[in-house]
Amino acid sequence: MNIVDIINKKREKEELTREEIAYAFNSYLDGSIKDYQMSALLMAICINGMTDRETFDLVDIFIKSGDILDLSMIPGVKVDKHSTGGIGDKITLIIGPIVSSCGVIVPKMSGRGLGYTGGTIDKLESIKGFKTSLTEEEFIQELKDIGFAVTSQTSNLCPLDKVIYALRDVTGTTASIPLIAASIMSKKIAGGADKILIDIKCGNGAMMKTMDEALKLKNIMEKVGKFYNRETICEITDMNIPLGSNIGNALEVIEAIDVLKGKRGKLTDLALKISAEMIKISKNITYDMALQEASTALQSGKAYQKFLDFVKCQGGDINSLQVSDIKQEIKANKAGTVKNINALNIGKLSCHLGAGRINKEDKIDYGVGVVLNKIIDDKVEIGDTLFTLYKNKTEPIELIIDDYYEIN
Ligand code: URA
Repeated sequence: MNIVDIINKKREKEELTREEIAYAFNSYLDGSIKDYQMSALLMAICINGMTDRETFDLVDIFIKSGDILDLSMIPGVKVDKHSTGGIGDKITLIIGPIVSSCGVIVPKMSGRGLGYTGGTIDKLESIKGFKTSLTEEEFIQELKDIGFAVTSQTSNLCPLDKVIYALRDVTGTTASIPLIAASIMSKKIAGGADKILIDIKCGNGAMMKTMDEALKLKNIMEKVGKFYNRETICEITDMNIPLGSNIGNALEVIEAIDVLKGKRGKLTDLALKISAEMIKISKNITYDMALQEASTALQSGKAYQKFLDFVKCQGGDINSLQVSDIKQEIKANKAGTVKNINALNIGKLSCHLGAGRINKEDKIDYGVGVVLNKIIDDKVEIGDTLFTLYKNKTEPIELIIDDYYEIN
């Protein structure tokens, strides 16, 4: 087989056979196909898509590139959650402790940042000492002891996704329904959970920009889940404005802690909603009963204690979180009400400050990012601080406020 023929075929919108897909992707993993060739194929897939049959084959090839975790020795229902990624999405750090403190096991296999959105693993690495790469034994032990564990892909779990994910991040090939479905569903199935909840973000700060695209992704992911006999629920949630107020790695962990300590707002509401869905499918109870359990876990402080136990178990020092002390406040140049905050542009800005990667080798600066001082519907006077940049350079950043905030 010849990789150039396969790229040409996809460029011409033809359907690839399973053998061609397996050849291209497995040869990339073993190094015989180069970054530039795989980048071209990914771009062709991004532009021309894949049929359901090709997508099912891709999921299967990803799964078979590594091991499948057996969690059956852990008593109880195991439910995994995954987000397609959004600006300021720190929900995993909130729902993991809530759901596990309600007695449901949450095994979480997470990724690094993708596109402008930060990944859970990068966020957790802003906690000094936090070990994000667990062995299978460590992962299972923590699930038994704490009920919640987060690891980057264990050494041999979907290794193909690991390398493709890193390449997609820096080649503009993240926003593709078949590539997202294969990436997420392969990890979820190989990760061994019984049930899966996917939070599909939709809006200008998400990979799925329209409801039509989000519904297509939901459809294929639910079909894949069913095929592998894992109950899969996809929720479509808004990503036109950033989620919460903090964007950036340490900043997002700090905000997650604030929510676990009782801060209310839209972020808390969404975390409770997703937690309730996870508890509902795991315990076979009504949504209202599940929501009550989740709210009690949060209000009683049980979920926060669970978070502390989880961080300690993975070697992290919760007191080590640090944000940059070089700040720049962006002030309003007109009065009115905040009508919109552009999630995509805030995400790009945060990435530009150093919170995300442009090249595969880039090192993240955990202490930088953006804090939104004004949120939707807030009243604003001229000179009020709209948002604050946490930077690692003192030179002021020039920006056009209207690109970020709509005030009327
Ligand atoms: N999360 C993943 O793990 N993969 C994607 O492609 C998108 C979000």
